[in-house]
Amino acid sequence: MSHAMTLPPQQALIGGQWVNTAATMQVEAPATGEPLARIARCQAEEVDAAVQAARQAFAGQLGEWASWSARQRSEWLLRFADVIEAHQEQLAQLECADTGKPMTQAKGDISACARYFRFYGGAADKLHGETIPFENDFAVMTLREPYGVCAQIIPWNYPAQIFGRCVAAALAAGNTIVLKPAEDACLSVLCLAELAVNHSLPAGALNVVPGFGYEAGASLAAHPQIDHLSFTGSPETGTQVAQAAAQHHVPVTLELGGKSPQLVFADADLDAALPAVVRGIIQNAGQTCSAGSRLLVQRDIAESVVAHLCERFAALRCDAGEADASCGPLINARQKAKLEARLAAAEADGICVAARGQLASSAPVGGHFVLPQLLTDIPDGHEVLKEELFGPVLVVQVFEDEAEALALANATDFGLCAGIWTRDGGRQLRLAKGIRSGQVFINNYGAAGGVELPFGGVGRSGHGREKGFEGLRSYTRIKTIAIKH
Ligand code: NAI
Ligand code: MG
Repeated sequence: MSHAMTLPPQQALIGGQWVNTAATMQVEAPATGEPLARIARCQAEEVDAAVQAARQAFAGQLGEWASWSARQRSEWLLRFADVIEAHQEQLAQLECADTGKPMTQAKGDISACARYFRFYGGAADKLHGETIPFENDFAVMTLREPYGVCAQIIPWNYPAQIFGRCVAAALAAGNTIVLKPAEDACLSVLCLAELAVNHSLPAGALNVVPGFGYEAGASLAAHPQIDHLSFTGSPETGTQVAQAAAQHHVPVTLELGGKSPQLVFADADLDAALPAVVRGIIQNAGQTCSAGSRLLVQRDIAESVVAHLCERFAALRCDAGEADASCGPLINARQKAKLEARLAAAEADGICVAARGQLASSAPVGGHFVLPQLLTDIPDGHEVLKEELFGPVLVVQVFEDEAEALALANATDFGLCAGIWTRDGGRQLRLAKGIRSGQVFINNYGAAGGVELPFGGVGRSGHGREKGFEGLRSYTRIKTIAIKH
């Protein structure tokens, strides 16, 4: 795989220049455990230089970013969407090798990244303030202003997609950015940054500081000169970055994952529901914040649904991303060990592994593979029903009626997504209103990625909204101007 792959710059991007860092770190291919590249490992000093560059670019002291009109930003973002699409093959190869995800999913992720730039490019010059009727001798208006320097700390599961989601929205609104990609997968991000520089994004508008969470990430979150922080990752790290940002009263958007239920009623179209239930947990080997990781199924159909899902799970194959099987490896040895320990504990507690997928005979040794599996007969309140497992593991619970389905759906601290499968229109709306989560899908799951649709959590899934127009607004703040005449 690596011989055909063009590696991106392996440095940090600061003020429009690729700079060498004092320290470096190795990144590996999850499918083999072998090294892919050695890249920049930014520490406090480099993060500070990146924040200064972003500050200067925002203030008009570096490059021409601050002088660009909304229309110029719009035009650049729209052109950049085309650039991403023209480099889809190269970007998808990097994403596939670096995250281990199947090639078809990697290509889909690059398309989604381009769609973010197109959506926010189209929106950049349509972001209006308001005029407010007040006393007769006043004219009052609001301006939607960019925050300034946006710190963005992103995870390894969807680097290119989340780059699109954060970077396109923040730039559209006129901010500058310091982005810290995850130590486990950042090659597509470096490639996207290189493309942006080569296609005349003004210096300092986007700065990229690869590195470890506890070094570059912690320095960035605690930096006194950032104006906004968006973070996607675990609830625990989310708490730490929010605490750091609170020292300087920096607003934060937190996207922290979930334990999202799929509710399947006896009247559902099972031909549509069951493939979507499997896809919802298998996509990206279950390492998806919005994974449909709990199946709640009505008693009357539970036995036949589980039997059918067992067939589907047994047919799943794990292999390297380039083989484009149903499931790739997990991201690293630590994630694999954590999941395997939880699965061993579940089996010891008498939980049934009703079906397992298989490792393809072509799968490389040394890859961090965990077989997809379906767990049933789970005691109420068990850890596997509550914790985000972040792997290809679906847990099944049975309910009698709508009231019990709602109670089980809400029996979680998380609240990111929910899927409801039923033909009953009244029930669709009652449940959609009753479920505590940021997104509800009825007779579908995930709305094909939903670049245009606001996305975010409640409770332990975080707060703030990204994607769609709401995501763009969240990168602005309102200034009120009252004129007496
Ligand atoms: P993490 O939350 O530690 O990492 C996410 C990002 O935060 C990475 O860029 C990392 O470098 C950075 N980071 C880590 N510690 C930091 C700190 N002290 N200050 C600032 N930034 C820091 O997640 P990790 O360890 O990779 O995965 C653990 C679990 O987190 C997973 O099992 C999964 O449950 C959850 N997770 C959820 C994601 C989502 O999409 N919501 C994405 C990745 C992980
Ligand atoms: Mg990697």
